[in-house]
Amino acid sequence: MTATPQAAVAYVTSREAPDLEKATALAAFAAAGLAAEAVEWDDPAVEWSRYGVAVVRSTWDYTWRRAEFLAWAGRASAVTRLCNPVSVLERNTDKTYLRDLAAAGMPVVPTAWVAPGQRLTEAAAPWPELVVKPTVSAGARDTVRTTDREAAAAHAAALTAAGRTAMVQPYLRAVDGEGETSLVFIGGDLSHAVRRGPMLSGPEGRFADELREPDADQLTVAERVLAAVPERADLLYARVDLVRGEDGAPVVIELELTEPRLFLQYDAAAPGRLASAVRARLA
Ligand SMILES: Nc1ncnc2c1ncn2[C@@H]1O[C@H](COP(=O)(O)OP(=O)(O)O)[C@@H](O)[C@H]1O
Ligand SMILES: [Mg+2]
Repeated sequence: MTATPQAAVAYVTSREAPDLEKATALAAFAAAGLAAEAVEWDDPAVEWSRYGVAVVRSTWDYTWRRAEFLAWAGRASAVTRLCNPVSVLERNTDKTYLRDLAAAGMPVVPTAWVAPGQRLTEAAAPWPELVVKPTVSAGARDTVRTTDREAAAAHAAALTAAGRTAMVQPYLRAVDGEGETSLVFIGGDLSHAVRRGPMLSGPEGRFADELREPDADQLTVAERVLAAVPERADLLYARVDLVRGEDGAPVVIELELTEPRLFLQYDAAAPGRLASAVRARLA
């Protein structure tokens, strides 16, 4: 890559899978008069001090290079304004943050945690259908859905044997009906929300993502969760992913503050909102 000296905004990507939002975001930045370019976080040729703001986006490979990624974030944030802030990335790249949210009284998917050296017990996860996934992951990678307790325990054991922590949850059936609702916040305000289809269903159960109005109870939960983030005022973007539990109340499945897809193409005003929020952080 060749960095132009005058570029004000780094749109931070990786070599992983195509970033379907990059062109939309860069076009919005250009329309807002911002000089921006896409750069890979692990490109040693990048001089981060050239940028007024570095916007973390499609850095999906952090899930298997987390220490390296966080070390980069620390170095970059010493010389540019990293969005979101490095302290946020440190906490948010490991889903054990859900345990902290639950401890703070937020409604979170019931979760049993299995650290290396531990085993999955029925008492800790007494649900008929289980989801087993690693605490550091994205895109449903290494995630298993099963009604077979032995298969669930074996997957958890495989994760812990590799030094990872496993999380085990009930399969939330609402994801197959209403779906998962992702509330996208830009510059602190709700931008838009998207209804998302189940990722652990067979092809027959899938449906396409679509824009939706969030319900009042979903908005309330999302606002509460974000209000509990110490760096709330510094968040350029945030996505709160909710699914309804058995009692119908929304629970947090993920609080995405690292590299969430923002569904920019689903709301015509969203790319402009992102550009404005970036500009405000350049000032
Ligand atoms: N407990 C669960 N119940 C139902 N579906 C789940 C559950 N956990 C994960 N999924 C499905 O798998 C997808 C990915 O899991 P998620 O926890 O969001 O991690 P990530 O998006 O980081 O891979 C979700 O969007 C959802 O479709
Ligand atoms: Mg998710």
